[in-house]
Amino acid sequence: ATEAEQKDLVIVGGGVAGYVAAIKGAQEGLKVTCIEKRGTLGGTCLNVGCIPSKSLLNNSHLYHQILHDTKQRGIEVGDVKLNLGQLMKAKDTSVAGLTKGVEFLFKKNGVEYLKGTGAFQDEHTIKVQLNDGGETTVAGKNIIIATGSEATPFPGLEIDEKRVVSSTGAIALEKVPETLTVIGGGIIGLEMASVWSRLGSKVTVVEYLDAIGGPGMDAEIAKATQKILKKQGLIFKTQTKVISGDVSGDKVKLNIDSAKGGKEETIESDVVLVAIGRRPFTGGLGLEEVGVELDERGRVIIDQEYRTKIPHIRCIGDVTFGPMLAHKAEEEAVAVVEYIKKGYGHVNYGCIPSVMYTFPEVAWVGQSEQDLKKAGVKYRVGSFPFSANSRAKTNLDTEGMVKMLADPETDRLLGVHIIGPNAGEMIAEGTLALEYGASSEDIARTCHAHPTLAEAFKEAAMATYSKPIHM
Ligand code: FAD
Ligand code: NAI
Repeated sequence: ATEAEQKDLVIVGGGVAGYVAAIKGAQEGLKVTCIEKRGTLGGTCLNVGCIPSKSLLNNSHLYHQILHDTKQRGIEVGDVKLNLGQLMKAKDTSVAGLTKGVEFLFKKNGVEYLKGTGAFQDEHTIKVQLNDGGETTVAGKNIIIATGSEATPFPGLEIDEKRVVSSTGAIALEKVPETLTVIGGGIIGLEMASVWSRLGSKVTVVEYLDAIGGPGMDAEIAKATQKILKKQGLIFKTQTKVISGDVSGDKVKLNIDSAKGGKEETIESDVVLVAIGRRPFTGGLGLEEVGVELDERGRVIIDQEYRTKIPHIRCIGDVTFGPMLAHKAEEEAVAVVEYIKKGYGHVNYGCIPSVMYTFPEVAWVGQSEQDLKKAGVKYRVGSFPFSANSRAKTNLDTEGMVKMLADPETDRLLGVHIIGPNAGEMIAEGTLALEYGASSEDIARTCHAHPTLAEAFKEAAMATYSKPIHM
């Protein structure tokens, strides 16, 4: 072990939370060390999450479109073949480029990067088992826990990443399964179901609740999404619970039952994806050594300045409260460094967008109708369908709508919900509007270029306080 050297900031975890905090810390003049065990930077998001899944979503959509949606556009294609190996290679190339990019940014900003597994030795010291063998210690005036999350396992179904997979196995299957069953109709479930269905699998999604989309999606939008995805060939079994499952031979059997209690049924498939949520990851960190506390769901307990019970040990990202999203982790990373360096920081948790990258995309920010109803808040709804938007019509991509919720008295925007082409890009405008406290009339009186999908956004705003022109 080498002599412990005192750093200004030591970060355990080099995911989006950790690496962004490291770069921001260095930019603010702090001496920073970041410890990551994976061997590459970028965490779940860059290595096995956001980036590889979006590569597969983009290219499987293209393949599916070439197969099924070219004739009406006047394009005649010949023999279309899937080269799954190359599809995976394209994904791996994107991942490698981005993770190496973060390593480059570390060098550029003078962040020390230790490849190894960190654990608390004491309140100021992290012991690191180096990936290359050996051990070292690093001491920090400030420490940030940014160890992220892992897939929640399904009791009794062991994940082997071949037949019973988490998202990590689902982004790396070696052949297109004939049949795939997805447990959990949340974001991971629906994105991965889309990928493999487009590539030729028969996909069944089993969801415990009566609606798909996971937490946060507006109920009306979730219903519309289910209808569209069903038309694309996905089979949904909602209000259905998986009782047990087992791998027998080359099939995986799941015993399912109506959530209300009904007839039991068995589904057999080649691959089962377990996508029932993610849980915070703190294994082996030695939190008990220093007295950092976890809540009943395993999340590190922090205050508004991201401090644990030990004030110089802070925590951000998936391993603590809030939505498990990369951009949320990134916002927290900047804010936590500002708290350390300046004593103040800011994240608006009411204004964090969500995007599901299916086709069409689903995106939202702010509150849903069911949230507002539950809270007893009065609201007005305005919506506009893409079938009445000139660009969507020109592009022959008319499914979906923009829906806005606003305060009936002040007209202040409360939530924006979009299902449609490019919803993930369009939600940025809704997020900005919400962050600035815009009214629906503010949006409607902002000139939007023609012909663009964003005009549907403007017209939904018009519909919220008055009437849209094109409906
Ligand atoms: P992580 O990214 O999990 O990083 C934590 C890192 O800490 C890991 O690399 C881990 O190896 C390391 N670590 C843990 N313990 C130790 C230790 N003791 N010592 C050293 N290192 C340690 N979010 C979006 O916003 N958009 C998306 O499109 C999106 N798609 C996703 C798709 C999938 C399939 C999945 C699984 C997730 C997706 N997410 C997406 C969520 C996103 O990946 C997470 O919100 C994000 O990665 C959280 O960042 P984090 O840094 O908190 O944690
Ligand atoms: P999720 O919380 O989004 O959805 C899980 C779904 O599984 C819920 O609908 C839930 O009702 C259902 N479920 C739970 N237990 C079940 C059971 N026993 N049987 C049947 N259904 C059950 O979780 P998911 O999809 O695993 O994703 C985890 C997190 O990863 C997301 O919450 C999100 O934060 C992040 N993510 C974000 C993406 C994005 O931003 N595009 C993409 C993928 C993941």
